[in-house]
Amino acid sequence: MNKPTDFVFTPTTKAPEPALELGRIPVDRYTDPVFLKLEDDCIWSKTWLLAGAACDVAEPGDFFVFENLRESVLVTHAEDGVVRAFYNVCQHRGNQLKASGCGNSPYLSCGFHGWEYYLDGSIKEIPEAHDFPQGVPAEELSLKEVRCEAWGGFIWISMDPDIEPLIKYLGVVPEHLAPYEMESMVLVSDETVEWSCNWKTSVDIFSETYHVRGVHPESEYLADDVNVQMDLYGPHSRFIAPMYIPSPRKIGEDKALNQTMVEYLKSEGFPVESFEGDVTNLRGAVAAHKRSMTNENGLDFSKLTDDQLTADYHYNVFPNITFNLFGEQMWMFRHRPHPTDPDKMYFDRMIFNRVPKGEAAGGAKAGAVDLFVELGDVNIVGRPEHNFYRYGEQSSGLLLDQDASCLAGVQKGLHSRGMTGLWISHHERRIRNFHFWWEKYMSEQPLMLKSAE
Ligand code: FES
Ligand SMILES: [Fe+2]
Repeated sequence: MNKPTDFVFTPTTKAPEPALELGRIPVDRYTDPVFLKLEDDCIWSKTWLLAGAACDVAEPGDFFVFENLRESVLVTHAEDGVVRAFYNVCQHRGNQLKASGCGNSPYLSCGFHGWEYYLDGSIKEIPEAHDFPQGVPAEELSLKEVRCEAWGGFIWISMDPDIEPLIKYLGVVPEHLAPYEMESMVLVSDETVEWSCNWKTSVDIFSETYHVRGVHPESEYLADDVNVQMDLYGPHSRFIAPMYIPSPRKIGEDKALNQTMVEYLKSEGFPVESFEGDVTNLRGAVAAHKRSMTNENGLDFSKLTDDQLTADYHYNVFPNITFNLFGEQMWMFRHRPHPTDPDKMYFDRMIFNRVPKGEAAGGAKAGAVDLFVELGDVNIVGRPEHNFYRYGEQSSGLLLDQDASCLAGVQKGLHSRGMTGLWISHHERRIRNFHFWWEKYMSEQPLMLKSAE
């Protein structure tokens, strides 16, 4: 816990702008299957990847599986208290040890011939071990470890044994997000939706608010899509999007609250009937109201500014993570590649709630039902079930349904002979920056980069 004198609020100073090329961004990287392999060699195996929620390996015996492209990684919490990650593959004949999801077990048993491993990766038992004339050397046959570190309430892994420490890789992000105390938030929703687009089109759309007018017309009445601060921090980036103030296109001369905003405020419990201001001072009133509710709901906002209580602080971590930070909640989006099809991807969404101090200790434990927190009208009992579906089978909520629908059309268009490359605006420069770093990673490996030929 920071002492008050040590505490630093999330910096909001505008970052210097790097010089970026202005040319079109080639489209074959979104559509050509050859890039699946190239990205595996140059991006997925060379960066830190968010593998899953730390609460899923909170206790000895806990494990979860993280799938990315052709790899499957097993994250475990062993008896010695250490959280480790291993390639999810039995050293006998290569069977996957665990199929998916999370669980708790003292050992890992292979379903093929019954080899057993401890959760620290070492061999526990090999049936008929005497029948291996070459022997069964313990070190040779232990599970193959991958780098594994924790930050922000998540376990991160890297398949690059020589990669820099996670905290260094994340750059300014840990310092910027420390006031949100993400580690003490509680997982309340866990979904994976298969979308009909490449993973990078998804990263792109979650990098700008230019698409709000076309894709999210309702949001124009609730949030400012124009006065959005963009910051580039090496491969990572941020935008700060003010909420509780409409788009400048939707503010009338009288500056009165629009009906969509009024309904939204009511749904959040804001006493809109007694509010006598207009759109210019609504954000301050909402922040004050949220702080006034602290005694009632127990939520501690003392490390967040009024701006943070009324805006989306939106961070992208290269290559494929988006954090949306609000006062009460955090949304983690993971834009995961499909293993064989560049026209598909997995959109992983985890929602975490801020909860009263003390009630979140240890996080929501996988499989346990000893956590009960009431927050507004959300009741949390244990860890939420992971929910998988394809776009169209269920709703992901209006905003994400709108994004997914748009991206399916974008992916089709990117295959057209009539599309020679993305034409990016200044507002959209997080996309340009992402692709600058994507190309840098791709070109640093001894492989031919098709789009650069
Ligand atoms: S492949 Fe695992 S025991 Fe044979
Ligand atoms: Fe969107």
